[in-house]
Amino acid sequence: MSPMKPLVIVTPFHESQIQDAIYCSKKSGIQIRVRSGGHDYEGLSYVSEVPFAIVDMRNLRSISIDTKDKTAWVETGATLGQLYYTIASKSRTLAFTAGVCPTVGVGGHMSGGGYGMLSRRHGIAADHIIDAKVIDVNGRILDRKSMGEDLFWAIRGGGGTSFGIVVAFKIELIVIPQTVTVFNVTRTLEQNATQLVHRWQYVADKIDENLLLRLFLRSFTSSRSGKRTIGAFFTSLYLGRVDDLLPIVQEKFPELGLVKEDCTEMPWIESVLFFAGFPRNTSLDVLTSRVPLVRPYFKGKSDYATEPIPEHGLKGIWKFLDEETENRAELQFSPYGGRLNDYSESEIPFPHRAGNIFMIHYVVSWDKPGKKESERHVNWIRKLYSYMAPYVSKSPRTAYFNYRDLDIGMNNERNTSFKQASVWGFKYFKINFRRLVRVKTEVDPSNFFRNEQSIPPLS
Ligand code: FDA
Repeated sequence: MSPMKPLVIVTPFHESQIQDAIYCSKKSGIQIRVRSGGHDYEGLSYVSEVPFAIVDMRNLRSISIDTKDKTAWVETGATLGQLYYTIASKSRTLAFTAGVCPTVGVGGHMSGGGYGMLSRRHGIAADHIIDAKVIDVNGRILDRKSMGEDLFWAIRGGGGTSFGIVVAFKIELIVIPQTVTVFNVTRTLEQNATQLVHRWQYVADKIDENLLLRLFLRSFTSSRSGKRTIGAFFTSLYLGRVDDLLPIVQEKFPELGLVKEDCTEMPWIESVLFFAGFPRNTSLDVLTSRVPLVRPYFKGKSDYATEPIPEHGLKGIWKFLDEETENRAELQFSPYGGRLNDYSESEIPFPHRAGNIFMIHYVVSWDKPGKKESERHVNWIRKLYSYMAPYVSKSPRTAYFNYRDLDIGMNNERNTSFKQASVWGFKYFKINFRRLVRVKTEVDPSNFFRNEQSIPPLS
């Protein structure tokens, strides 16, 4: 893309200013891009090739918690860190199930799904949205009742951006134990990482749903041997005490060799800091920062594994990781199963339920600017994605909408046919794409809210 600068950035403090922005954009024929946390992988909330305005929700970030009802209203300009911090300041046994990175925005994240460390026990963020406040193309402020169940369904996983501007979500909070247990165990190739990763695939989606055994894979220099190797980092959360965790892992995954000394007990909110990569004893206040922790240049892609990847397939991945030796390339295997299976594929637009063992997230990031540098890394991740085709879901080869990837297809600048958009639409939403198109046609037939991967209306 050769992006333009926005003509104007609107930072509303009040809903009426959003209504004004919609009115003015329509009148002057410019596009609107809505930004909550600005973490879109392809920058679609702040980059465009056509004249556009940004509506930046950062000032609409209030959070009100009702501990008695176990619910909260969260404005979409809030970040996940702000939400977690506010919940923890009111209660030690309430939490919310959403992503790991604290600077991710509520608006994009919850409307697109929201997977995190609590997801095997409690599902994704969008599963827990119980009401919403949305401003539609006509500037009307709608709640669940006035928007109707179709639109309310669409904005819980289908992405807010195609349908209007989401001002706030009402969510149901979840109950968690006062103490949880975390561990991060590393195994290298010399410590049988290949066999362990292979075995993990038979365990991770079936083990006790209170345990989320996440797996990160990257090339690194081992401090033990001083040599470059592949590291399998088993990064995990158990909703309970270490003495209950150990027998579960020792019975179902003894090969990991987990011992008590690997584990740390802590309140849930401290586990949020742990998984975000902050050192122990960091003040919880960091959760309120909006400054992202990521490198300037980045490309991500995703897949779903419905069958275990054989050992020879894993060895091929190691070769790819060895090519990106700057320690900035990673595969994240996020286990499914548990409560994620309790929802049907069509309950909300997020369709990745029973039958998925784990989600694969491919990530590469770099610091140096320049086209050549960028091409090198992007080509690497694209080649890896091609290599993975035999080992992942097929027809469609599914992808996670929140890990947005324009490689899988894009809208035309003007009208896009259902057939053309189906190429990427079915990957993200499977059969739900049809209903998303019907809702879009109903609520925004003129396709005012659009971007390179928005849901097109039927023309
Ligand atoms: P941003 O503001 O860029 O918006 C993303 C999209 O949503 C854009 O199309 C935008 O227009 C639209 N949008 C935003 N606010 C809206 C509103 N109020 N109304 C209507 N449309 C709106 N995901 C995950 O599931 N689990 C995880 O652990 C992580 N971790 C993670 C870490 C890092 C460092 C990054 C960069 C990303 C993730 N993600 C993630 C992915 C993340 O969920 C995804 O990028 C979200 O869309 C980001 O939401 P933001 O509001 O920050 O993005």
